[in-house]
Amino acid sequence: MKTLLIGNWKQNIGPEEAGKFCQTYKELTKEKHIHKRIETAIAAPYITIPYTGELPSYIFRAGQNCSEFRLGAHTGEIDASWLKSVGCKYCIIGHSERRKLNNETDDMVFNKYRNLIACEIEPILCIGDVSKDGSPDERIQAILSQLRFYSQETSLWIAYEPVWAIGSGEVPTYEWINTVTDEIHRLLPNSRVLYGGSVNEKNAADIMANTHIRGLLIGGASLDAKKLYTLERNVEDKLYGRR
Ligand code: PGA
Repeated sequence: MKTLLIGNWKQNIGPEEAGKFCQTYKELTKEKHIHKRIETAIAAPYITIPYTGELPSYIFRAGQNCSEFRLGAHTGEIDASWLKSVGCKYCIIGHSERRKLNNETDDMVFNKYRNLIACEIEPILCIGDVSKDGSPDERIQAILSQLRFYSQETSLWIAYEPVWAIGSGEVPTYEWINTVTDEIHRLLPNSRVLYGGSVNEKNAADIMANTHIRGLLIGGASLDAKKLYTLERNVEDKLYGRR
C-alpha cells in the first residue's frame, strides 16, 4: 500500500505563484522520478487548483474544504461535485483552522464528508487535541470524540493533527503518535491514519519510519517545491530504500 503525502497550501499559493511552483517541481522530478511507492496530492486553494496543471500527471489534486450543502443559494460556497470536475481525488475536511476560524462543528464536517463520498472524492478527516493539558486519557477521549459519526464508515482517511503542533515547530513523540494511531484503529479498524503538524523535509522520514501512520499532511514545507521534493525523496529512500 502506498504512503500518502498531502501538501496543504492553505491560503498561501495563488494562481500566479502556482505556475512557478509547478515549473520548479517539474524540473526536480525530471532528475529522479519518485512516486512508485508514495502518492502525493496537493491541496491548493480552490481558485488555484486549475493552475496546477503543470504538475506531473502522477501528482493528485485535493481540495482544502467543500460546502456542507449541495447546490443552491449558498453564496461563497464550493460544491463537492465541482472539486471532482477539476480533478480532485481527495479533500481535506475539518482542519483545525476551519474549526477555529469558521466555527466548524463535527456535524458540519460530517455533512461535508457525506457530500464528498456522494461525489466519489476521498475525504481526509482532520482531528486533533487542542492542547497538551490534561491526562493522556482525557486527550485521547477528546480526539476520539471527533470520530463519533464515523462508526459505520469502512475506509476512512484520518489526519491526526495536534493543534499545538501545527506551524509551531513542535512534533509529538513517536510514542504519542502511536498511542493515538492505535486508539483510532481500535475504534475504526479500517481507517488509515496520517499525521500532520510541523512535518518538514528533515523529520518526515523518521516520523514515517517510527510510527504506525500511513502518511503525512504537510503545511509549511509543502509551499516550497524543493522542500516538498526533498521530503518525498527522504521518505521514499527511508521506507523503501534507494533504487
Ligand atoms: P504545518 O501545517 O505543517 O505548517 O504545521 C500542517 C497543517 O496545518 O495541515
